[in-house]
Amino acid sequence: MADDLIVHSGLKEEKYETLIPQIKVLCEGETNRIANLANAAAAIKQTFDYFWVGFYLVEGQELVLGPFQGSIACTRIQKGKGVCGSAWEQKKTILVDDVNTFPGHIACSSLSQSEIVVPLLKNGEVIGVLDVDHSEVNAFDKIDEKYLNEICTWLVSIL
Ligand code: SME
Repeated sequence: MADDLIVHSGLKEEKYETLIPQIKVLCEGETNRIANLANAAAAIKQTFDYFWVGFYLVEGQELVLGPFQGSIACTRIQKGKGVCGSAWEQKKTILVDDVNTFPGHIACSSLSQSEIVVPLLKNGEVIGVLDVDHSEVNAFDKIDEKYLNEICTWLVSIL
């Protein structure tokens, strides 16, 4: 059984610095992708208490809901649609300070106000995305972008 997750009580950077090695320990030695993505989503959610943390995985021309923590969510997103589909199409991280200003934003929950989506890039192709939502505007910044990218790059290396 895994030990309890340690959550740093300090700055956001310190929380990520404490979180990332624990995600690695949780996932190392486990080959099942769903198990690893599920624990990664849970560890991020537990550390920051973000409103919604989860993965969508590419299946053909759609993203399909994968392991997540939070309220019920849309199951399928077309390429180029919403923040997730846009991050897939553009192969880059999209940080949205206020989802109400993002054209085509898909509101899985009306409570979500800001969002960051990081593509999972394997050999130059997007195999999925990490989507993190917050119930307040302007919740995410360059620090989240840096560390969530680091987490995704590492996860892809073991998927
Ligand atoms: N808001 C996302 C959809 C996924 S939910 O937030 C979980 C989007 O616009 O792609």
